[in-house]
Amino acid sequence: LGAFIATAEAQTYPTRSITMIVPFAAGGPTDVISRIVTGHMAQTLGQSIIIENVVGAGGTTATTRAARAANDGYTLITGHMGTHAASVPLYPKLAYQPEKDFEPIALLAGTPILILARKDFPPKDLKEFVTYVKANAEKVNAAHAGVGSVSHVSCELLHSILDIKPVGVPFNGTGPAMNALVAGQVDYMCDQIVNAVPQINAGTIKAYAIATAERNPSLPNVPTTAEAGLPAFQAQAWNAMFAPKGTSPAIVASVNAAAVKALDDETVKKRLLELGSVIPAPKDRTPEALATLVKNEIAKWSPVLKPAN
Ligand code: MLT
Repeated sequence: LGAFIATAEAQTYPTRSITMIVPFAAGGPTDVISRIVTGHMAQTLGQSIIIENVVGAGGTTATTRAARAANDGYTLITGHMGTHAASVPLYPKLAYQPEKDFEPIALLAGTPILILARKDFPPKDLKEFVTYVKANAEKVNAAHAGVGSVSHVSCELLHSILDIKPVGVPFNGTGPAMNALVAGQVDYMCDQIVNAVPQINAGTIKAYAIATAERNPSLPNVPTTAEAGLPAFQAQAWNAMFAPKGTSPAIVASVNAAAVKALDDETVKKRLLELGSVIPAPKDRTPEALATLVKNEIAKWSPVLKPAN
Protein backbone atom coordinates (compact mmCIF):
# COMPACT_ATOMS: atom_id res chain seq x y z
CA LEU A 1 0.00 0.00 0.00
CA GLY A 2 2.84 2.38 0.91
CA ALA A 3 4.45 1.93 -2.50
CA PHE A 4 1.08 2.44 -4.19
CA ILE A 5 0.50 5.73 -2.33
CA ALA A 6 4.06 6.88 -3.13
CA THR A 7 3.53 6.16 -6.84
CA ALA A 8 0.20 7.98 -6.86
CA GLU A 9 1.82 10.99 -5.15
CA ALA A 10 4.62 11.02 -7.68
CA GLN A 11 2.08 11.02 -10.50
CA THR A 12 0.31 14.12 -9.18
CA TYR A 13 3.47 15.87 -7.96
CA PRO A 14 3.64 18.74 -7.33
CA THR A 15 0.33 19.68 -5.73
CA ARG A 16 1.72 22.61 -3.73
CA SER A 17 4.63 25.04 -3.78
CA ILE A 18 8.19 23.72 -3.57
CA THR A 19 10.88 25.22 -1.33
CA MET A 20 14.32 25.58 -2.90
CA ILE A 21 16.94 26.09 -0.21
CA VAL A 22 19.83 28.32 -1.28
CA PRO A 23 22.73 27.92 1.17
CA PHE A 24 24.00 31.51 0.78
CA ALA A 25 22.70 35.09 0.91
CA ALA A 26 20.35 36.51 -1.69
CA GLY A 27 22.00 38.23 -4.65
CA GLY A 28 25.03 35.91 -4.79
CA PRO A 29 25.85 33.41 -7.55
CA THR A 30 23.96 30.39 -6.17
CA ASP A 31 20.89 32.53 -5.49
CA VAL A 32 20.97 34.18 -8.92
CA ILE A 33 21.38 30.87 -10.80
CA SER A 34 18.62 29.27 -8.69
CA ARG A 35 16.20 32.12 -9.36
CA ILE A 36 16.85 32.12 -13.12
CA VAL A 37 16.34 28.37 -13.48
CA THR A 38 13.50 27.85 -10.98
CA GLY A 39 11.57 30.76 -12.46
CA HIS A 40 11.16 28.68 -15.62
CA MET A 41 10.79 25.34 -13.80
CA ALA A 42 7.80 26.68 -11.87
CA GLN A 43 5.94 27.17 -15.17
CA THR A 44 6.69 23.58 -16.23
CA LEU A 45 5.74 22.10 -12.86
CA GLY A 46 2.67 24.30 -12.44
CA GLN A 47 3.57 25.32 -8.88
CA SER A 48 5.61 28.13 -7.44
CA ILE A 49 9.17 27.45 -6.27
CA ILE A 50 10.02 29.54 -3.23
CA ILE A 51 13.69 30.34 -2.69
CA GLU A 52 14.70 30.17 0.96
CA ASN A 53 18.15 31.61 1.71
CA VAL A 54 19.57 29.74 4.71
CA VAL A 55 23.02 31.07 5.53
CA GLY A 56 25.97 30.05 7.69
CA ALA A 57 29.08 27.88 7.94
CA GLY A 58 30.03 28.12 4.27
CA GLY A 59 26.68 26.70 3.15
CA THR A 60 26.87 23.62 5.37
CA THR A 61 24.11 24.80 7.75
CA ALA A 62 21.57 24.87 4.94
CA THR A 63 22.83 21.66 3.40
CA THR A 64 22.45 19.86 6.74
CA ARG A 65 18.89 21.14 6.92
CA ALA A 66 18.15 19.94 3.38
CA ALA A 67 19.61 16.50 4.13
CA ARG A 68 17.21 16.15 7.07
CA ALA A 69 14.13 17.55 5.29
CA ALA A 70 11.17 15.36 4.33
CA ASN A 71 12.00 13.44 1.13
CA ASP A 72 8.67 14.28 -0.49
CA GLY A 73 9.92 16.54 -3.28
CA TYR A 74 8.77 19.73 -1.57
CA THR A 75 12.18 20.67 -0.16
CA LEU A 76 15.11 20.79 -2.59
CA ILE A 77 18.49 22.51 -2.47
CA THR A 78 20.85 24.18 -4.88
CA GLY A 79 24.23 22.96 -3.72
CA HIS A 80 27.64 23.53 -5.29
CA MET A 81 31.27 22.56 -5.49
CA GLY A 82 31.67 23.70 -1.88
CA THR A 83 28.61 22.26 -0.12
CA HIS A 84 28.69 18.94 -2.00
CA ALA A 85 32.44 18.32 -2.36
CA ALA A 86 35.03 20.66 -0.79
CA SER A 87 33.25 20.71 2.59
CA VAL A 88 33.93 17.00 3.04
CA PRO A 89 37.67 17.34 3.76
CA LEU A 90 37.28 20.78 5.39
CA TYR A 91 34.68 19.74 7.99
CA PRO A 92 35.64 16.43 9.66
CA LYS A 93 32.32 16.55 11.59
CA LEU A 94 30.16 17.44 8.61
CA ALA A 95 26.58 16.40 9.53
CA TYR A 96 25.79 15.08 6.04
CA GLN A 97 27.46 13.00 3.37
CA PRO A 98 26.92 14.50 -0.09
CA GLU A 99 26.91 11.11 -1.81
CA LYS A 100 24.75 9.24 0.71
CA ASP A 101 22.27 11.83 1.95
CA PHE A 102 21.06 13.31 -1.35
CA GLU A 103 19.43 12.33 -4.62
CA PRO A 104 21.26 14.24 -7.36
CA ILE A 105 18.79 15.98 -9.71
CA ALA A 106 20.63 18.11 -12.25
CA LEU A 107 23.71 20.23 -12.84
CA LEU A 108 22.55 23.80 -13.51
CA ALA A 109 25.65 25.81 -14.39
CA GLY A 110 29.42 25.81 -14.51
CA THR A 111 30.86 28.98 -12.98
CA PRO A 112 34.41 30.05 -13.87
CA ILE A 113 36.39 31.73 -11.10
CA LEU A 114 37.91 35.21 -11.37
CA ILE A 115 40.47 37.04 -9.27
CA LEU A 116 38.80 40.34 -8.37
CA ALA A 117 39.84 43.32 -6.28
CA ARG A 118 38.46 46.57 -4.94
CA LYS A 119 38.73 49.31 -7.51
CA ASP A 120 41.53 51.18 -5.76
CA PHE A 121 43.61 48.12 -4.83
CA PRO A 122 47.13 49.18 -5.97
CA PRO A 123 48.13 46.33 -8.36
CA LYS A 124 47.24 47.10 -11.98
CA ASP A 125 47.43 43.59 -13.40
CA LEU A 126 47.86 39.98 -12.27
CA LYS A 127 51.67 40.09 -12.25
CA GLU A 128 51.60 43.15 -9.99
CA PHE A 129 48.91 41.48 -7.86
CA VAL A 130 51.12 38.44 -7.28
CA THR A 131 54.11 40.60 -6.30
CA TYR A 132 51.96 42.84 -4.09
CA VAL A 133 50.11 40.14 -2.13
CA LYS A 134 53.34 38.21 -1.60
CA ALA A 135 55.03 41.34 -0.25
CA ASN A 136 52.01 42.34 1.86
CA ALA A 137 50.56 38.96 2.85
CA GLU A 138 50.14 40.09 6.48
CA LYS A 139 48.23 43.22 5.53
CA VAL A 140 45.93 42.20 2.69
CA ASN A 141 42.65 40.38 3.17
CA ALA A 142 40.50 38.14 0.98
CA ALA A 143 36.71 38.13 1.27
CA HIS A 144 34.90 34.78 1.04
CA ALA A 145 31.57 33.13 1.74
CA GLY A 146 32.68 30.98 4.69
CA VAL A 147 34.93 27.95 5.10
CA GLY A 148 34.12 25.44 2.39
CA SER A 149 32.46 27.95 0.07
CA VAL A 150 33.66 28.20 -3.52
CA SER A 151 35.24 31.62 -2.94
CA HIS A 152 37.13 30.31 0.11
CA VAL A 153 38.34 27.13 -1.58
CA SER A 154 39.32 28.93 -4.80
CA CYS A 155 41.44 31.51 -2.97
CA GLU A 156 42.93 28.72 -0.80
CA LEU A 157 44.11 27.16 -4.05
CA LEU A 158 45.48 30.51 -5.24
CA HIS A 159 47.20 31.10 -1.90
CA SER A 160 48.79 27.65 -1.94
CA ILE A 161 50.19 28.37 -5.42
CA LEU A 162 51.56 31.72 -4.19
CA ASP A 163 52.63 30.20 -0.85
CA ILE A 164 50.96 32.91 1.24
CA LYS A 165 48.34 32.91 4.04
CA PRO A 166 46.48 36.22 4.03
CA VAL A 167 43.59 36.96 6.39
CA GLY A 168 40.20 35.73 5.20
CA VAL A 169 37.08 37.80 5.82
CA PRO A 170 33.96 35.58 5.90
CA PHE A 171 30.51 36.70 4.74
CA ASN A 172 27.21 34.81 4.41
CA GLY A 173 27.66 34.63 0.67
CA THR A 174 29.58 36.44 -2.02
CA GLY A 175 26.53 38.68 -2.58
CA PRO A 176 27.36 40.59 0.63
CA ALA A 177 31.10 40.01 0.11
CA MET A 178 30.81 41.72 -3.29
CA ASN A 179 29.05 44.69 -1.67
CA ALA A 180 32.03 44.99 0.70
CA LEU A 181 34.47 44.76 -2.23
CA VAL A 182 32.60 47.47 -4.14
CA ALA A 183 32.60 49.62 -0.98
CA GLY A 184 36.38 49.10 -0.67
CA GLN A 185 36.07 47.41 2.74
CA VAL A 186 37.99 44.28 1.67
CA ASP A 187 40.90 43.88 -0.76
CA TYR A 188 40.21 40.98 -3.08
CA MET A 189 38.15 37.87 -3.72
CA CYS A 190 38.12 34.71 -5.85
CA ASP A 191 34.52 34.64 -7.00
CA GLN A 192 32.20 32.91 -9.46
CA ILE A 193 31.68 34.81 -12.69
CA VAL A 194 27.91 35.20 -12.23
CA ASN A 195 28.50 37.59 -9.35
CA ALA A 196 31.32 39.45 -11.07
CA VAL A 197 30.06 40.33 -14.56
CA PRO A 198 27.62 43.10 -13.53
CA GLN A 199 30.22 44.79 -11.31
CA ILE A 200 33.07 44.49 -13.82
CA ASN A 201 30.86 45.98 -16.52
CA ALA A 202 29.81 48.78 -14.17
CA GLY A 203 33.49 49.50 -13.43
CA THR A 204 33.00 49.20 -9.68
CA ILE A 205 35.67 46.51 -9.15
CA LYS A 206 38.86 45.25 -10.86
CA ALA A 207 39.19 41.87 -12.57
CA TYR A 208 42.76 40.56 -12.89
CA ALA A 209 42.07 37.26 -14.65
CA ILE A 210 39.67 34.42 -15.27
CA ALA A 211 40.98 31.03 -14.12
CA THR A 212 39.88 29.03 -17.18
CA ALA A 213 41.67 27.89 -20.33
CA GLU A 214 39.72 30.31 -22.55
CA ARG A 215 38.43 33.85 -22.07
CA ASN A 216 34.70 34.08 -21.34
CA PRO A 217 32.46 35.64 -24.02
CA SER A 218 30.72 37.73 -21.33
CA LEU A 219 34.06 39.33 -20.38
CA PRO A 220 36.13 39.45 -23.60
CA ASN A 221 38.64 41.92 -22.13
CA VAL A 222 39.51 39.89 -19.04
CA PRO A 223 42.65 37.78 -19.69
CA THR A 224 42.98 34.15 -18.65
CA THR A 225 45.33 33.36 -15.78
CA ALA A 226 47.66 31.75 -18.36
CA GLU A 227 47.71 34.93 -20.48
CA ALA A 228 48.23 37.05 -17.37
CA GLY A 229 51.19 34.99 -16.13
CA LEU A 230 49.74 32.52 -13.60
CA PRO A 231 48.80 29.42 -15.61
CA ALA A 232 48.85 27.17 -12.53
CA PHE A 233 45.68 28.78 -11.17
CA GLN A 234 42.75 27.06 -12.92
CA ALA A 235 39.35 26.99 -11.23
CA GLN A 236 35.76 26.53 -12.27
CA ALA A 237 32.91 25.80 -9.86
CA TRP A 238 29.44 24.38 -10.46
CA ASN A 239 25.94 24.72 -9.03
CA ALA A 240 23.47 21.84 -9.01
CA MET A 241 20.10 20.75 -7.66
CA PHE A 242 19.65 17.96 -5.10
CA ALA A 243 16.78 16.37 -3.14
CA PRO A 244 16.97 14.60 0.23
CA LYS A 245 17.88 10.91 0.00
CA GLY A 246 14.91 8.65 -0.65
CA THR A 247 12.94 11.16 -2.72
CA SER A 248 11.08 8.96 -5.21
CA PRO A 249 12.72 8.36 -8.62
CA ALA A 250 9.52 9.60 -10.29
CA ILE A 251 9.77 12.96 -8.48
CA VAL A 252 13.50 13.22 -9.21
CA ALA A 253 12.76 12.53 -12.89
CA SER A 254 10.01 15.13 -12.97
CA VAL A 255 12.20 17.86 -11.36
CA ASN A 256 15.12 16.88 -13.61
CA ALA A 257 12.91 17.18 -16.71
CA ALA A 258 11.78 20.65 -15.61
CA ALA A 259 15.40 21.73 -14.99
CA VAL A 260 16.52 20.39 -18.38
CA LYS A 261 13.64 22.19 -20.08
CA ALA A 262 14.64 25.42 -18.32
CA LEU A 263 18.25 25.04 -19.54
CA ASP A 264 16.92 24.71 -23.11
CA ASP A 265 14.76 27.83 -22.84
CA GLU A 266 16.16 30.73 -24.89
CA THR A 267 15.50 33.38 -22.22
CA VAL A 268 17.02 31.27 -19.44
CA LYS A 269 20.04 30.44 -21.63
CA LYS A 270 20.54 34.09 -22.55
CA ARG A 271 20.47 35.22 -18.92
CA LEU A 272 22.87 32.48 -17.78
CA LEU A 273 25.27 33.18 -20.66
CA GLU A 274 25.18 36.96 -20.14
CA LEU A 275 26.43 36.25 -16.61
CA GLY A 276 29.24 34.06 -17.96
CA SER A 277 27.87 30.68 -16.84
CA VAL A 278 28.73 27.52 -18.70
CA ILE A 279 25.48 25.75 -19.60
CA PRO A 280 25.86 21.99 -19.09
CA ALA A 281 25.82 19.83 -22.23
CA PRO A 282 22.78 17.49 -22.44
CA LYS A 283 24.84 14.45 -21.38
CA ASP A 284 25.87 16.30 -18.19
CA ARG A 285 22.31 17.10 -17.11
CA THR A 286 21.25 13.68 -15.82
CA PRO A 287 21.09 12.66 -12.12
CA GLU A 288 23.70 9.97 -12.91
CA ALA A 289 26.11 12.52 -14.39
CA LEU A 290 25.70 14.71 -11.30
CA ALA A 291 26.35 11.72 -9.00
CA THR A 292 29.61 11.10 -10.90
CA LEU A 293 30.57 14.78 -10.72
CA VAL A 294 30.06 14.84 -6.92
CA LYS A 295 32.10 11.65 -6.49
CA ASN A 296 34.94 12.97 -8.69
CA GLU A 297 34.96 16.38 -7.02
CA ILE A 298 35.15 14.89 -3.50
CA ALA A 299 38.07 12.75 -4.71
CA LYS A 300 39.71 15.82 -6.27
CA TRP A 301 39.41 18.12 -3.24
CA SER A 302 40.00 15.62 -0.43
CA PRO A 303 43.80 15.41 -0.79
CA VAL A 304 44.10 19.18 -1.41
CA LEU A 305 42.12 20.69 1.47
CA LYS A 306 42.90 20.33 5.16
CA PRO A 307 40.35 20.75 7.99
CA ALA A 308 39.89 24.30 9.26
CA ASN A 309 40.91 24.80 12.87
C1 MLT B 1 27.06 32.36 -3.03
O1 MLT B 1 26.02 32.18 -3.65
O2 MLT B 1 27.18 33.29 -2.21
C2 MLT B 1 28.21 31.47 -3.31
O3 MLT B 1 28.01 30.45 -4.19
C3 MLT B 1 29.32 31.68 -2.48
C4 MLT B 1 30.55 30.84 -2.58
O4 MLT B 1 30.45 29.63 -2.46
O5 MLT B 1 31.62 31.42 -2.71
